[in-house]
Amino acid sequence: MTTYPPTPEFAADAIAQPGIYEQANQDPQAYWAEQARTRLHWDKEFTEVLDFSDAPTARWFGDGELNAAYNALDRHVEAGHGDRVAIYFEGEPGDSRAYTYKDLLAEVSKAANAFTELGVVQGDRVAVYLPLIPEAIITMLACARLGAIHSVVFGGFSADALRSRVDDGEAKLLITADGSWRRGKPSMLKPAVDEALSAEGHTVETVLVVRRNGEDINWVEGRDRWWHDVVDPASDQHTYQPFNAENPLFVLYTSGTTGKPKGILHTTGGYLTQGVTTFVHSFDIHPEKDVYWCTADVGWITGHSYVAYAPLVAGATQVIYEGTPDTPHRGRWWEIVQKYGVTVLYTAPTAIRTFMKWGEQIPAEYDLSTLRVLGTVGEAINPEAWRWYRDVIGAGTCPIVDTWWQTETGAHMIVPLPGIVATKPGSAQRAVPGINVDVVDEFGEPLEPENPGLLVVREPWPAMARTIWGDHERFKQTYWSRFDGMYFAGDGAKRDEDGDIWLLGRVDDVMNVSGHRLSTTEIESALVAHPLVAEAAVVGAADATTGEAVVAFVIVGEDTGGLDTAAASEELRQHVAKEIGAIARPRNVLIVPELPKTRSGKIMRRLLKDVAEGRDVGETTTLADASVMDEIAAAMQQQ
Ligand code: PRX
Repeated sequence: MTTYPPTPEFAADAIAQPGIYEQANQDPQAYWAEQARTRLHWDKEFTEVLDFSDAPTARWFGDGELNAAYNALDRHVEAGHGDRVAIYFEGEPGDSRAYTYKDLLAEVSKAANAFTELGVVQGDRVAVYLPLIPEAIITMLACARLGAIHSVVFGGFSADALRSRVDDGEAKLLITADGSWRRGKPSMLKPAVDEALSAEGHTVETVLVVRRNGEDINWVEGRDRWWHDVVDPASDQHTYQPFNAENPLFVLYTSGTTGKPKGILHTTGGYLTQGVTTFVHSFDIHPEKDVYWCTADVGWITGHSYVAYAPLVAGATQVIYEGTPDTPHRGRWWEIVQKYGVTVLYTAPTAIRTFMKWGEQIPAEYDLSTLRVLGTVGEAINPEAWRWYRDVIGAGTCPIVDTWWQTETGAHMIVPLPGIVATKPGSAQRAVPGINVDVVDEFGEPLEPENPGLLVVREPWPAMARTIWGDHERFKQTYWSRFDGMYFAGDGAKRDEDGDIWLLGRVDDVMNVSGHRLSTTEIESALVAHPLVAEAAVVGAADATTGEAVVAFVIVGEDTGGLDTAAASEELRQHVAKEIGAIARPRNVLIVPELPKTRSGKIMRRLLKDVAEGRDVGETTTLADASVMDEIAAAMQQQ
């Protein structure tokens, strides 16, 4: 197989140099302790590195104290970098703002003072439902400054999804905006907040609203306050408080195999250590000269670790962009790269495949010569997209850094370090220095090369999730019960003859649509809650652009409300979008007379996946009624 070594110039100047793997893996705890000491400011130095005696709960740097926002901001200003740009914000309508580290510190200080005035104290939960605008990052850092726990809910999620997350975390303050823009049109957020909070019984005392798109919104006196009335006049001086390294930093909800999303809890010292270390190593960040752009929204873990925290803790300069890639034209991203001289771009394979479809003449119109590292995340990147990314966007020279990790891992776990590793299209290749991953069989035994198995992490790592909010038992069950003493990631994987790791997709009922995690069960629950539906089964089917697409097979009840099949399908597609969010809207809803079940009544999703992907249906002898599949295939063809 052709591999792509870094150029000699890149390798010579790279921050992570050969030898780092051996050094880190000889004594991972010593390695992480050194990273923690050198990359972070501690108000109280830690003396213990890891306490895993209460496994699977880990304590990293457990007797140390620090403040995440101080590490992201004040420290750089004190070191004389106050005038370095921290964030270039590009709004969808074309407005832009630049924040230096000094500016950002002032804004975060104001927000911290304002939140304090609103009664927020250490340990309180603050729900965040914002577009990708600077106020989102300011909010997160202001919470960190106060030791409050932010819970960011992706702006694409519905009112119901917002409410269940607000309730689960018992948030006191909710920060939102009137809305933002999407494809040149206003896209609203505040109405979803109003709907979410319309029923009694929630814990939110104040809703703080950023004015972004200027559209008219409903206002609840006594509950709603404008950001510009509360934050802008607050003092821009704020004295931070150091917190224990294990103080919770945030909760972020992610889909699991049941209908109920899991509130993944991350803490401070270990999370920041692994975040900033991997940020610098994976992307070879030289903070004084690089301009980094991660296209992820703050509603996802990538937007937490590699937008809100690591780049700022590293003192780097980054771009954030509010809008979609095709507004006002399909060259918008490349125009942004050119405008800011972006050197490191981090995005998802689904975006790359979309650009491939649009054609290479579009990026060719822009100057992309500043780019030197290209990262991907969210799903395995197919070799064709990998090569296109490298050749068309990266001029055939940029290393492609395929980063495997999860909401639960908090930071990169498997990455080809760009100055060291000869990259292979489609493989994330090597565990990060100091991280111990393996591919094992169903009994937990390591597998020989080329044998597909399950991905596990053998040793605790600094950025690991500490628990599921309010449900520690579920945390233990989900990740730590399958194999003794090892974390089970839920992904299939194999090693090749060189020992490089290839990710093979989820092995559980979790789908990956455009790099976003969705639960089949959650969508099925939403469907069966609709009066039309008697039974539903959902599968992720391979899709050329989004990786996987949601395909639902539905049995409707007697009363179809007068809707014909096409209208009923459409109604159910919209219903899922309303219940969960537009990202969960099924690509197809197929109305079928029966679902394939085993004799014990278990739905055989594997067969449905075959149909959804247009394959001949495999082995059906275990089915209670083998003719069911013919009827389903016929329904699929009619669509
Ligand atoms: O299946 C893997 C896939 O995304 C899952 C984690 O999703 P989430 O927690 O939403 O985090 C996404 C961003 C880190 C994983 O279990 N995944 C993520 N990155 C890759 C990947 N699969 C293959 N290759 C990757 N680089």
